[in-house]
Amino acid sequence: MNVWVMTLKKIRTVELFAGVGGFRLGLEAASDKFDFIWANQWEPYKKEQYAFDCYTAHFGKSNNHVCEDIAKVRDDVPEHELLVAGFPCQDYSIMKKNSLGIEGSKGALWWQLDHIVRNKRPSYILLENVDRIIRSPAKQKGRDFSIILRCLYESGYAVEWRVINAADYGQAQRRRRTFIFAYRNDTELFKRLAENVCKRGLKSMHEYVVSDAILAKAFLVQGHDRIYTDQWIDEMIYPEVCDISNDLKVEFYNSGVMMNGRIYSVDVIPKKEPFVPIKNILETGTIDEKYFLKDEDMAKWIYSKGAKLEKRRRRDGSTYYFTEGAVKFPEPMDMPSRTILTSESKVGRTSHVVTDLQTGRLRTLTPKECERLNGFPDDWTNTGMPENMRYFCMGNALIISIVKRIGFIIAKISSFN
Ligand SMILES: C[S@@+](CC[C@H](N)C(=O)[O-])C[C@H]1O[C@@H](n2cnc3c(N)ncnc32)[C@H](O)[C@@H]1O
Repeated sequence: MNVWVMTLKKIRTVELFAGVGGFRLGLEAASDKFDFIWANQWEPYKKEQYAFDCYTAHFGKSNNHVCEDIAKVRDDVPEHELLVAGFPCQDYSIMKKNSLGIEGSKGALWWQLDHIVRNKRPSYILLENVDRIIRSPAKQKGRDFSIILRCLYESGYAVEWRVINAADYGQAQRRRRTFIFAYRNDTELFKRLAENVCKRGLKSMHEYVVSDAILAKAFLVQGHDRIYTDQWIDEMIYPEVCDISNDLKVEFYNSGVMMNGRIYSVDVIPKKEPFVPIKNILETGTIDEKYFLKDEDMAKWIYSKGAKLEKRRRRDGSTYYFTEGAVKFPEPMDMPSRTILTSESKVGRTSHVVTDLQTGRLRTLTPKECERLNGFPDDWTNTGMPENMRYFCMGNALIISIVKRIGFIIAKISSFN
């Protein structure tokens, strides 16, 4: 095969907010077409950069692996075809700064990503965020996600999204994440969808979401609910992004598409695949004593996991009743885990407590087990960081095989073949 053709087949990929490299691991496992040419990861204001060190321990030290605030290096991003990013979920509201432009709230990192998209205009963009991004903020549901869609619309992209619960698709963790895939208006994907929407309107948007979308091909759907959203976010109704920020509330469902400023969204029902129970990923050998629950912490564990009905006092002195239900303690071993958070293993309600396979005693998860729940190779984060940071990095990370499934479909896009 001629070398020039081989070069064309590579998908130059840039990874932002790279963490310990979940996107890279997943996409490289899907296809060798993904050529990671630049990555950025920086933990704000920390002297030690453990996630970045882990990234370079596996993918090498290079001038193209940059540990710096993205705001400072956003114009150094090279030309590329695919941009991937698990960007932090923040408040994306904006206000008008002056006649010259707009200003994002609290310097939210979305605006850095938006700047890069507007300037580099990669053919494809794959983003990941928490499931609540489609609903936030609570006081103006759907505002932040509408802002993201509007920005991508202004940059000339169509967008599809799906909230994926990994346990529905064969994983050992009930981790729900929103995946967002966008394609530029000169790609075949965009043109085909645009033509269909132009001819058949909302019906074709529905068909796309449930069966033809990249994310629907990666994660099959067996049905959908009857309620849907049909909403315009274009400049005819909202002249500027800040008008969306000020006024718009949208009910977004777990899947949807935005084409030429029109949004269709519906709750799809996943075609479930058998999950992996948590007991299958537990370490089997002798576990270090430090992971076992200590007698002196037992009262705290029982309290934090238990049901509560407590009279509490607000700052202004008024009182209210705080209630919450009990959570399973220990975890049911035949079920997938709940979502691992950055605080995993600390005494508290959200940390997992499992029954040790060898001794039958109660213990927390080991860092290796958290890596397994996310599908990382064992000891991926054992690159010199303290254990609490290993939990932290896994709490932030992606589930590798979920990314791999998306990567597998992206690699089949005709322009890459
Ligand atoms: C949700 S995590 C992404 C995790 C990643 N997908 C993985 O699999 O490990 C977001 C990452 O953005 C990084 N980050 C936060 N602020 C940043 C900034 N200003 N510049 C660059 N990276 C930043 C955080 O350190 C964190 O690792």
